[in-house]
Amino acid sequence: MRERIKQLKDIAEKFKPENLASIEDFRISFLGKKGHIAALFSDFKSVPPDQKKSIGLEINELKNYVADKINSLKDTFSQSKTSEFIPDLTVPGKSFVAGSRHPISIVRNQIIDIFSRIGYNISTGPEIEDDWHVFSALNFPPEHPARDMQDTFFIERDPDVLLRTHTSSVQVRVMTNNEPPIRTISPGRVFRNEAISARAHCIFHQIEGLYINTDVSFADLKQNLMYFAKEMFGSETRIRLRPSFFPFTEPSAEMDISCKICGGKGCNVCKYTGWLEILGCGMVDPNVLSYSGISPEKYTGFAFGMGIERIAMLKYQVKDLRLYFENDVRFLEQFSAAF
Ligand code: PHE
Repeated sequence: MRERIKQLKDIAEKFKPENLASIEDFRISFLGKKGHIAALFSDFKSVPPDQKKSIGLEINELKNYVADKINSLKDTFSQSKTSEFIPDLTVPGKSFVAGSRHPISIVRNQIIDIFSRIGYNISTGPEIEDDWHVFSALNFPPEHPARDMQDTFFIERDPDVLLRTHTSSVQVRVMTNNEPPIRTISPGRVFRNEAISARAHCIFHQIEGLYINTDVSFADLKQNLMYFAKEMFGSETRIRLRPSFFPFTEPSAEMDISCKICGGKGCNVCKYTGWLEILGCGMVDPNVLSYSGISPEKYTGFAFGMGIERIAMLKYQVKDLRLYFENDVRFLEQFSAAF
């Protein structure tokens, strides 16, 4: 019996198929109903009891060896079959639908691109902040209404842990950790405790800019913003700065651009004023510089900040802010990926 098993193993090892059919013949001769393995098992009855265990093992080993060999031979044969397949290279390709970028991402990338061309780098920071970075270091007086529970989301009722209400908090981190010259923009999500409507949302996106160096003037600010407005909205765009107030800048201003719909003549988009407000800006308050360890005697700087949704609404003529957050594909697929 042992001898027979050995011979059969030898035959199985030497077997080399010519095609798939010869593998099938090999399989039948070994594993078929009347094959070698079946014959071995039927003769197994006459094996003396003390050898039954070891011979049984050997037969099973042979059976497994043959089964494995057949499987791997079949695999190699079917693979070489596919490699013989020559595709028709003239068949037109299958097209696939590429997704589109979210309009907020498109506009954000565009703004980043415009400012990086004049030397601004990008800085980011945490969305969960503390009072120092969002308010105190930015010269907000302790009783300032922006700290009120109405506007700010506090976490765990701890007045020192909150969701940032603007990305100026990132600029505090940049000023604390870097020496001037600093020229950076900070894009990111911000949070304000406001009722959701067509014109307001509790989450939106900002890009804020900061430039600190020796002898930075308001004229530099104006020049940078004019460059931005023309790049973003077209070379015929005009800008207008109106005095305003922010705790962290002095003097402060709000910037309008000439209405790109009516060209300044007056229409319902600009509410017949010819102007559209797009951002806040100003010269960094000397207190803000000192809070972050920068000498106001040596350096001056300007800052500006804008809402990306606002810019995107003007650019794409979207009248309801909520559309940016609902992710309705019928809205999103209208924006082809520019960036
Ligand atoms: N941080 C201000 C805001 O969130 C925008 C701003 C930034 C204004 C920088 C002036 C200077 O509204």
